Amino acid sequence: MKLHAINEGKAQVLTRRSTSSKILAHLIALTLILTILPLYYPYIRYILEKPTPLASHSNDLLHVQSTTTLSRQHPVYRGHLLPATRENEAGQKVVAKRGKGKRGRREVVLKPPGGGGNKSCDLYSGEWVENPKGAYYTNETCWAIQEHQNCMKFGRPDQDFLKWRWKPNDCELQEFDPVEFLEMVRGKSLAFVGDSVARNHMQSLICLLSRVAYPNDVSNSSDLNFKQYEYPEYNFTMSIFWSPYLVNTERTDRRDITQPFKLYLDEFDESWTSKIEDFNYVIISAGQWFFRPTMFYSGRHVIGCLYCSESNIRHRSSTFSYRRAWRTAFRAINSLKNFKGIVFLRSFVPSHFEGGRWDKGGDCVRTRPFKSNESVMEDYSLEMYKTQLQEYKFGEREARKKGIKVALMDMTQVMQLRPDGHPSRYGHLPSQNVTMANDCVHWCLPGPIDTWNDFLMELMKREDGRGLANSLVCID
Ligand SMILES: *[C@@H]1O[C@H](CO)[C@@H](O)[C@H](O)[C@H]1NC(C)=O
Ligand SMILES: *[C@@H]1O[C@H](CO)[C@@H](O)[C@H](O)[C@H]1NC(C)=O
Ligand SMILES: *[C@@H]1O[C@H](CO)[C@@H](O)[C@H](O)[C@H]1NC(C)=O
Ligand SMILES: *[C@@H]1O[C@H](CO)[C@@H](O)[C@H](O)[C@H]1NC(C)=O
Ligand SMILES: *[C@@H]1O[C@H](CO)[C@@H](O)[C@H](O)[C@H]1NC(C)=O
Ligand SMILES: *[C@@H]1O[C@H](CO)[C@@H](O)[C@H](O)[C@H]1NC(C)=O
Repeated sequence: MKLHAINEGKAQVLTRRSTSSKILAHLIALTLILTILPLYYPYIRYILEKPTPLASHSNDLLHVQSTTTLSRQHPVYRGHLLPATRENEAGQKVVAKRGKGKRGRREVVLKPPGGGGNKSCDLYSGEWVENPKGAYYTNETCWAIQEHQNCMKFGRPDQDFLKWRWKPNDCELQEFDPVEFLEMVRGKSLAFVGDSVARNHMQSLICLLSRVAYPNDVSNSSDLNFKQYEYPEYNFTMSIFWSPYLVNTERTDRRDITQPFKLYLDEFDESWTSKIEDFNYVIISAGQWFFRPTMFYSGRHVIGCLYCSESNIRHRSSTFSYRRAWRTAFRAINSLKNFKGIVFLRSFVPSHFEGGRWDKGGDCVRTRPFKSNESVMEDYSLEMYKTQLQEYKFGEREARKKGIKVALMDMTQVMQLRPDGHPSRYGHLPSQNVTMANDCVHWCLPGPIDTWNDFLMELMKREDGRGLANSLVCID
């Protein structure tokens, strides 16, 4: 009887134990599912992605691969080069800095890397605030402005769009300092990879640096899409690699750039992937070309198309190819064996056509930035941005495992607020017959794209362990 009772008690304990361990097992399984599923959600989602109906989307932007060449070095700016750094009596590295007038010369002490740094400030939430000091160069002082971005030359009447700076909510973003920048990149190299907006960015950087130094063109070709510039005083080189789709491509018609491109979505574009290994900084971007008619290939088989007339091919969205292109780009980056630099992904930047699409009279005529509460991104831009961020996160995680540094330069929202910064109709003579009559994709130089270099410098400092305006001490 007693024994029986004891046994019964044991049995009860046993059943209770086994129920509680069952519950525990279920809980663990549930937690696993809940944590793992969201990680793979984007993959699951794109596997299930529905094809878009043919040409449902109006934004098949046509981009000009400009044939204009940069004008030659401006004679006025010859001889404006600053002396290199030297050590002062206290053993600090100093560099002379040019200011306005005779009294403007002063010495700048360069703080050694490693001090300060406040990475906690979110640079990308903020507003454009007035900045009467802008702009920092003109079309007369910088020779690197390409025709279709030389808005002043083509009669843009307003100049207020030059008088804004980006103010993060919780800190200040230091304005680009060409002397400090050149000291930071002494003996280093920087590459841009992307399309004409990447080139736009590079030309902005050359113009901002033109207050201090001009580069020599050391390119082997006259092809504007593959250029290399050298700043001899600083042993600094800057290169650009044209790759609007980031992956291997072919034209369906060699001579006609408006005909669909074949995108080999799983193949590297070796024109940049084989070149970037030795660079210290790589700024990679891609965007509007993904809205053009394209055929998608994987393993050399057609897997879909965008705006094609074939009815037996699956019609896919721009985000379909965008996602795969970024994934392949990251695969290329993460397979670099000796890369010691850092890759900055400059995020998708929306265009600002209003009142119609690019080829149906759409234009961008605003003359002021938006406040952050005044503007919402269009759905298709948001989709591109989200797709890119997802791929960035996967790529970044993989890169971290391999010890490769990548960072995000998140210009999307910052530039969403600048509908006033595009050439619009001031990118060409009124009489000129160009593909894009009103250009709401590229950015005037000077213009809000100059701010990208404020961000670039801050991100470089953060990588250095410095950051946020602490790095310069001025002794007048
Ligand atoms: C860093 O920035 C945050 C704002 O993002 C601020 O609250 C904090 O005080 C800053 N820290 C230092 C040391 O400046
Ligand atoms: C610069 O812009 C002005 C108008 O502000 C124009 O008259 C001039 O031709 C332009 N110069 C160059 C070199 O583009
Ligand atoms: C210039 O920089 C490269 C590294 O980018 C270095 O190998 C080379 O020695 C430097 N040249 C001079 C003259 O400092
Ligand atoms: C140009 O060609 C020379 C010789 O072929 C080569 O050494 C150099 O690296 C090339 N420069 C660029 C920028 O490709
Ligand atoms: C946006 O915010 C500003 C203050 O920053 C306010 O004055 C304005 O009324 C707001 N606009 C809208 C459309 O909410
Ligand atoms: C512009 O060029 C296109 C073809 O290249 C032509 O059809 C059109 O009529 C031209 N427009 C003007 C105003 O010359």
